[in-house]
Amino acid sequence: MAIHRVKGTYDVLPTESAKWQALEEKVRALFRQYHIREMRTPIMEYSGVFHRQNDRSDMVTKETYDFKDRSHRDLTLRPEGTAGIIRSYVEHKLYASQELEKVYYIGPNFRYERPQKGRYRQFYQFGVEAIGATDPALDAEMIMLAYDLFSSLGLKGVKIRINSLGNDASRATYQNALIKHLLPHRDTLCDDCKERLDKNPLRILDCKIDQAHPGILSAPTPVDYLDEPSMTYFNAVQSYLDDADIDYELAPRLVRGLDYYSHTVFEIEADIKGFGAQNVLGGGGRYQSLVKELDGPDISGIGFACGMERILDALALEGISLDDNDKLDAYIIAFGNNTKKVASTLLHNLRKAGLSADMNYTNKSFKAQLKQALRDHASYLVILGENEIKQGVAGIKHTMTQQQETVDLSEVVNYLQKRSK
Ligand code: HAM
Repeated sequence: MAIHRVKGTYDVLPTESAKWQALEEKVRALFRQYHIREMRTPIMEYSGVFHRQNDRSDMVTKETYDFKDRSHRDLTLRPEGTAGIIRSYVEHKLYASQELEKVYYIGPNFRYERPQKGRYRQFYQFGVEAIGATDPALDAEMIMLAYDLFSSLGLKGVKIRINSLGNDASRATYQNALIKHLLPHRDTLCDDCKERLDKNPLRILDCKIDQAHPGILSAPTPVDYLDEPSMTYFNAVQSYLDDADIDYELAPRLVRGLDYYSHTVFEIEADIKGFGAQNVLGGGGRYQSLVKELDGPDISGIGFACGMERILDALALEGISLDDNDKLDAYIIAFGNNTKKVASTLLHNLRKAGLSADMNYTNKSFKAQLKQALRDHASYLVILGENEIKQGVAGIKHTMTQQQETVDLSEVVNYLQKRSK
């Protein structure tokens, strides 16, 4: 069998990694501003962390990578970040020292989905969880954070859609009403929706196949069934957002794909010409029972996660480039006999001085090395030919202005350090 990458996965090649790093740095900087600290949990967990009794979502029932390790333990590669974070939060009793814990995470997740553009079997998410408080101001803060994130990336074609599923009681009443409404339409629903009617009826609302089905179009929506406290809560979330001038849309049919949500749910959607069908850049919401289900206290949390591949696609389509950290301060071009030794020491000294620098090891011609230096976006060329070595100097050329100077070898580091600040 030919050796190649696993279906639904991709490689980040050296020419592409700078944009990933730049996105990560932007995200980390914003989380710092929001006083949210990073948390890192394993990519595998005991299967029970994800396969919880009450979770009948597609992601949990059909899409997880489950396996047994060599000691026959049931393990699962994480399909999302939230459950592992909560497992760790409970295991380390973080609730005992901090009433409200806010954390973020960045890393790969695994779902056995049908691969297509924007949908992979291994994909990267960054996400955030605020655990320990039920307060509409906190729901609003999470939505503001999502808004700030996409604004700070410079993305314009982005919509934030919000909805409320209400508290557990409202959600249960709504679910019954929805089933009652849809049962007479059962035979004409798509196969997936027939199954969802028994297992996960809320998901029928945002079925892509049955979008125009009259039974679904006439179905009640969750807000129709919010009890008074749930309605007050949702109104409060909106008023915080309005006061902060956050652009959002009410999306009465938004229910989200995972089962643990109640109260506020939201999604960030790309509205960009040419973007594929997988246009949801991120999503999240409040979860009332997840902490308890994972053996923790009866407290709720709220969070969201974003798909990094999709954000990078959106940035590319809007012509936004974040990766200006892919430059070199200096590139040494050493050619002719006996130049490499001096070049090698100089290169090390430049790096020790904090500069980014490189040289060519292939003994190619001056012209070929110059080409490489320009491809690597070097700001300065350090030219070391036999003559320069004899005289104890280097030619230093600024690639932008084309100005060239001759500098004593012992002064090269100093010279470049001063100019590369
Ligand atoms: P999710 O909606 O399943 O939510 O995933 C969040 C985002 O991850 C999606 O909007 C999408 O951008 C990206 N994503 C999901 N699956 C794939 C895939 N197969 N390929 C590429 N990108 C994908 C969650 O995961 C929740 N844990 C979010 C959350 C945090 N809720 C509360 N806290």
